[in-house]
Amino acid sequence: MKVLVATEKPFAKVAVDGIRKEVEAAGYELALLEKYTEKAQLLEAVKDANAIIIRSDIIDNEVFDAAPELRIVVRAGAGYDNVDLEAATAHGVCVMNTPGQNSNAVAELAFGMMIMAVRNFYDGKSGTELMGKKLGIHAYGNVGRNVARIAKGIGMDIYAYDAYCPKEVMEADGIKPVDSAEELYATCNVVSLHIPATAETKNSINYDLVNRMPKNGLLVNTARKEVINEADLLRLINDRPDLKYVTDIMPAHHEEFADHFPGRYFSTPKKMGAQTAEANINAGIAAARQIVGFLKDGCEKFRVNKK
Ligand code: 3PG
Repeated sequence: MKVLVATEKPFAKVAVDGIRKEVEAAGYELALLEKYTEKAQLLEAVKDANAIIIRSDIIDNEVFDAAPELRIVVRAGAGYDNVDLEAATAHGVCVMNTPGQNSNAVAELAFGMMIMAVRNFYDGKSGTELMGKKLGIHAYGNVGRNVARIAKGIGMDIYAYDAYCPKEVMEADGIKPVDSAEELYATCNVVSLHIPATAETKNSINYDLVNRMPKNGLLVNTARKEVINEADLLRLINDRPDLKYVTDIMPAHHEEFADHFPGRYFSTPKKMGAQTAEANINAGIAAARQIVGFLKDGCEKFRVNKK
């Protein structure tokens, strides 16, 4: 059996070493395709792979067509919007993610960007503190819960909205649940986005929603660029010179944001949320173990596509 690690944005070496250990202990062979730049390289590498570990790498119908031996794809991470699940099912391939394995890393980056923004991007001018401010967590999943844990230490007043999470779960964590996204944005000084990119959420962060934020509001995006209605957000931060936007996922309109809103906008050059040795080790080794469990015992825990 051949397990391919196909990562355009590579794991830390220590994580690859850990993946290799798991794969070889199961008697399988490990192949690496790291930092590839062309899809053709991926199509060539998958042709004899039985299993693939990926990150944000695009796995579409063409990739499945090129991989006749493929039985499983594990997205080492949470969001699997980069994998065509219907194509996977049509090709008889199981798709899994590794929920929770990189969520602390993403949550810590959200605070890194939050502090940078409220301190005016370290320009020397007087900024503000996070303690006592109202934080809105938009989606209370694995990352949202880590954000809440860190925010408690900072002393923030924490609110959350999640249509799929029972309010009792949030209340048990000491978080104040609100009834709608509109209420969250209207209440909070800082909103941290943790929604996945789905048909329902794409473009959902729009002018009307963000405009509800109080004066000097800050929107932090460590989720996906697709959930932002970029044309709306550009228009809004033009209309509202008090708002700031920081993101770990470079917008399609990055140049426009950067040119028009200096001192109020920041994007990492490449999605960095999960780019820590710890997150790479956790997610990478979980992915390898899930592959071994699937190939040896048929374990389908964490499967995300239909059979
Ligand atoms: C995820 O969905 O797990 C995060 O966005 C991290 O993605 P990455 O592996 O591409 O850094």
